[in-house]
Amino acid sequence: MLAVTAYDVVLAIHIMGVVVAFGVVFAYPIMFALAAKHDPRSLPLIHRIETVVDRALVNGGLVVIVGAGIFLASDGKHWSEFFVQWGLGAAIVIGALVGAAMIPASKKAQKLAERDLAAGDGATMSEEYRAVTKRLATVGSLLSGLVVVTILFMAIKP
Ligand code: HEM
Repeated sequence: MLAVTAYDVVLAIHIMGVVVAFGVVFAYPIMFALAAKHDPRSLPLIHRIETVVDRALVNGGLVVIVGAGIFLASDGKHWSEFFVQWGLGAAIVIGALVGAAMIPASKKAQKLAERDLAAGDGATMSEEYRAVTKRLATVGSLLSGLVVVTILFMAIKP
């Protein structure tokens, strides 16, 4: 007999939220490296895609993750455990970094890429553009690292 509880279903939703929200974050560095190397004219569109994906999938998925996490912590009486407090902290930091750093920086990078491509030879990007994309890469790596550590803590429950 297969006995499925609400806890099991919500745990699956919690993990689906993690895949949908953060899967793409690990693909960004490859997308940007390929676009910069093979077709710089695609950079404004890639930054636009990043802005929309961060808003819809990353921040949207975060709402599902936290909602499902609150149910799991309450139903499973896990509130006093470290991994739950870490998860809440991680969710707040990720939401803040995406909203306050990633989305504004990718919007700015899009504008700068459009300007540089229109003004130059269609391939050379300004120092200002490079500085903004460096910030995007740094914050993006921080986010990816935080996601990996949080999955580890959720699984091993230290
Ligand atoms: C970035 C944020 C988060 C990530 C990446 C994440 C990831 C995960 C993953 C992969 C699991 C499955 C672990 C397993 O089955 O052994 C899990 C379980 C769980 N998470 Fe999260 N989580 C996050 C945030 C939260 C938050 C904010 C809460 C609570 C408010 C929470 C509470 C829980 C609970 C209670 C479980 C179930 C543990 C169990 O029954 O084994 N998580 N999480």
